[in-house]
Amino acid sequence: MIEVLKLLTLTIWLLLPSYTPNNFAVIFGGGTPIDLGMKFRDGRRILGDGKTFRGLFSGILGGVLTGAVQYGIEKTLGFSVFSILSFSSFLILCLLLSTGTLTGDIFGSFVKRRAGFERGRSFPVLDQLGFLVFALLFASIHPAFRTLYTPDVILTGIIITPILHVITNIIAYKLGLKEVPW
Ligand code: CTP
Ligand code: MG
Repeated sequence: MIEVLKLLTLTIWLLLPSYTPNNFAVIFGGGTPIDLGMKFRDGRRILGDGKTFRGLFSGILGGVLTGAVQYGIEKTLGFSVFSILSFSSFLILCLLLSTGTLTGDIFGSFVKRRAGFERGRSFPVLDQLGFLVFALLFASIHPAFRTLYTPDVILTGIIITPILHVITNIIAYKLGLKEVPW
């Protein structure tokens, strides 16, 4: 039981810099869409109005900021997960995780538009796990990836991420930050 709780906490801790970028994008996003309003050859928007430059950059920054706070917490409380790395190497890891997350998010919107899904419509699995796959793929080029993201952590992440995603989306909807609760 304790071991399971430990694995759950460790997994959330390790994935937090990939969980927060989307939330930062929701809060600070808006303005010019990344596709500049352009349409694909199928006549639909390339990405749609839900993917903006402001959301992209604030999201990446938000993920790195989250990591920096975590690193500070580790140093203050005296435990080492991320802080086995130097701060600069760790920041690169956060940058990979958050950039991967938002690339996955953009890829997801591209796929959704091609499938004829309007902006905001949910696409099960892709919405909840697409960003995680991209975050981990991006992070896998970091030299410390295999040490930190062990197979049990990755498996736990795949199981709990959809659950956490649903919970945070409902909270964001209740707070009026999202137009739909999914
Ligand atoms: N957002 C943004 N820029 C991004 C990602 C997100 O501005 N790169 C903001 C948008 O306001 C978006 C909200 O965060 O509406 C929620 O993100 P998401 O659920 O990914 O977008 P949707 O509006 O649902 O659009 P899509 O169907 O394309 O996923
Ligand atoms: Mg959405």
